[in-house]
Amino acid sequence: MVADGSRQLSMQKKTYNYSAGPAVLPEEVLKEIQTEIFDYQNTGMSVMEISHRGKVCIALFDETEALLRKLMDVSEHYSVLFMQGGARLQFAAVPLNLFTKNKKADYIHTGSWTKYAIAEADKIGEAVVVASGENDHFRKIPDLSKLKASADADYLYLCTNNTIEGTTIRPEAMPVSVLPIVADMSSNILSEEYDIEQFGLIFAGAQKNMGIAGVTIVIVRNDLLERSSKNNADMINYQLMQSKQSMLNTPPVFAVYVLNKVLKWVEKKGGVRQMAVQNKEKASMLYDFIDNSNLYKNSIDVDSRSLMNVIFNLPTAEEDAQFAKEAEKNGLMFLKGHRDVGGIRASIYNAAPPEQVQALIEFMKKYETGRY
Ligand SMILES: Cc1ncc(COP(=O)(O)O)c(C=O)c1O
Repeated sequence: MVADGSRQLSMQKKTYNYSAGPAVLPEEVLKEIQTEIFDYQNTGMSVMEISHRGKVCIALFDETEALLRKLMDVSEHYSVLFMQGGARLQFAAVPLNLFTKNKKADYIHTGSWTKYAIAEADKIGEAVVVASGENDHFRKIPDLSKLKASADADYLYLCTNNTIEGTTIRPEAMPVSVLPIVADMSSNILSEEYDIEQFGLIFAGAQKNMGIAGVTIVIVRNDLLERSSKNNADMINYQLMQSKQSMLNTPPVFAVYVLNKVLKWVEKKGGVRQMAVQNKEKASMLYDFIDNSNLYKNSIDVDSRSLMNVIFNLPTAEEDAQFAKEAEKNGLMFLKGHRDVGGIRASIYNAAPPEQVQALIEFMKKYETGRY
């Protein structure tokens, strides 16, 4: 590993990871994990081997929750849960916990991940699509300024960052609603400052901006916990999870340990505010380059553009594939776009340093002039 965020595999090979998730981790975090792997906090054991009922592990969970609360400014009116099953389980857990007798909720449809969430809610009750970007091929976040809550809806659901389509509902574009807002923040949590008080519930898988797969964060307003039904499976019951401090069963200790390290790293780097400054700089570097190029094209509405997942196309699908292949040969890994939309996708999460964006731009320049 070298200081510019690339990985030095050998004298000949150096790589950058642009994967949408599992994604690049901060180099410092990986080094710390390496150092502690055989002996976590003088236990003589790795963190993967300690009991979750012991005080060392409980302290790790408590510290991790406190760090997350501090970084995201989460008040005591909210509970923080460490759950399993990925963000995808939350597509079902949200309606199963938050539906009241009408079993109905409003959904803002902005791409593949909301499509799956809507389908899951429809199995349990009714998901009413109150705004959709479908007619714009999801290249634009629909107008959210005049949303009206459906009668008897239990919540309003949205995804703050559409990992596949490369669009974002920015903090300043968040809708206002009489309903509790539920947000899938899997791919942009900790990247920009959202006001937590706007939300009833936020969930996010950890494997993009918070660590590795295995733990899913749920931040839920305490009054909503009362809606959880005892008829729900225990493992998705928010109220039960909260009462058991997220340790109803054997929790994903290693994933929480990595989360703890990543949160400390974010804090050291200046917190979410500083992450946002750097993310905006990184993304504009890349979008500016694309907008000024004759070969690459980004067709996302400018105000909807994601800071985390920058998608672009070459003139044909064959050229996209060729570009991704040549990029890999040069150590720029996982640039192929998602199979739903094709093209190229560069994921530049918090842990991707500016040098990583610069390295991509340099390659794109060389590729464009045929000198790669
Ligand atoms: C926005 C969004 N939601 C949900 C998911 C699903 O996450 P998981 O694989 O943790 O279930 C992803 C995964 O990429 C995502 O990007």
